Amino acid sequence: MAESLINNLPGTRDLLPEELAGWHVVEDCARRIFRQYGFLEIRTPIIESTELFARGIGEDTDIVGKEMYTFQDRGDRSVTLRPEATASVVRAYIQNTLYRESGITKLCYFGPMFRYEKKQKGRWRQFYQIGVEAFGSDHPALDAEIIEMALRLMDSLGVQAKLLINSVGCRKCRTEYTKQLRQILQSELENLCDDCRRRADTNCLRVFDCKIERCRPVIGKLPVIAESLCDECSGHFSSVKTYLDGAGIAYEIAPGLVRGLDYYVRTAFEIVSGDLGAQNAILGGGRYDGLSEVIGGPPVQAIGFAVGLDRLTMVLPEEKRESGMWKPDLFIAYKGDAAFQKALHIARELRRLQQSCYLDFSAGSLKRQMRLANKIDAAHVLIIGDDELARDSYTIKKMEDSSQWEVTLEELAQYLQARGKQGKVR
Ligand code: HAM
Repeated sequence: MAESLINNLPGTRDLLPEELAGWHVVEDCARRIFRQYGFLEIRTPIIESTELFARGIGEDTDIVGKEMYTFQDRGDRSVTLRPEATASVVRAYIQNTLYRESGITKLCYFGPMFRYEKKQKGRWRQFYQIGVEAFGSDHPALDAEIIEMALRLMDSLGVQAKLLINSVGCRKCRTEYTKQLRQILQSELENLCDDCRRRADTNCLRVFDCKIERCRPVIGKLPVIAESLCDECSGHFSSVKTYLDGAGIAYEIAPGLVRGLDYYVRTAFEIVSGDLGAQNAILGGGRYDGLSEVIGGPPVQAIGFAVGLDRLTMVLPEEKRESGMWKPDLFIAYKGDAAFQKALHIARELRRLQQSCYLDFSAGSLKRQMRLANKIDAAHVLIIGDDELARDSYTIKKMEDSSQWEVTLEELAQYLQARGKQGKVR
């Protein structure tokens, strides 16, 4: 009993400060880049009505069919922990009548998502996404801009990744294509898994999401949507590619890329990394022009993507992760009670002046405190002993080269502030 209380649930984990250093680097970089493109943050609830996801993502998707954390709340409503945020952001966009604003509404979000999936490297039941959604235009240049922004993020983080793009067409061109697909799948039923047999009947595009080996040969032979695009979708896709070419963006056309959510139309894309194994998608997105209407809103054209933070941080270069680690610029070491009181005062003063410092309360010897300062990689140690107390000036030691000199509290504050301005403080 006690053992189960001190273990987290399968597929969830604690993110400790050392690991989070890399997460903060990614989040800060994303916020900075998203702002450059005009995206502002939105926070939606983590719980929503089950119906929102069932309708928005699609009843026949794996997410809705098998992976949602759904429960009845005390008011007898069916509630679901969000498996993704696009449906929620569209709901918020409609509910808050953001469509009345002129121009393109650009929103971004950061937060946990929940899917009851089989645990695997890079796959969690509680995982984190950073996402963006842009509403109000179906211009292919917007598709290209969103993709460019996603790649800027990868580039700024030093992450090597490949862009895959496809067009999944619109409802019009999909009608003919799915008719053809259904016919082929019906003739291959004995070679398909139980799920795909059902999908062949209900939502045959979802067969492309199947991860079961037995279905691979059939999936490999299926015609692809790109060959059945209507003139408008084909023209849209060509323009997106032209804009990407114009921006010097390298991509690979992935005709089998259909994405695992039903709301996509036209542009669909993923960014994958060769360093991740089977779960290689770091980012997925696409256009979803009809989603607003599906959940009861006005017609709205929209496109977005979400990055999987858990996966992106797995391929983050070590020096980037290290750049996010906290290291105190100043460790205050003291000897004796009077020096301790002075150390408390200095720490308070420095923090009031927006400087950070670290003070140990275990009343260890100066030697022990120096050892601790070394261990936590402090850049400087301020030493307060009897002599320093008497002089009311202190010895500061730069750990990098062991140089030391005397400072008053005022000089110390100025020195630390100057380092902060030069960007030397982590
Ligand atoms: P998605 O492809 O389902 O799309 O998820 C986006 C990213 O979230 C994936 O590429 C992956 O990195 C990460 N991810 C998904 N499931 C897991 C998991 N179980 N464990 C770890 N990481 C995971 C969406 O969610 C869409 N809402 C994206 C979007 C936004 N489309 C338009 N706007």
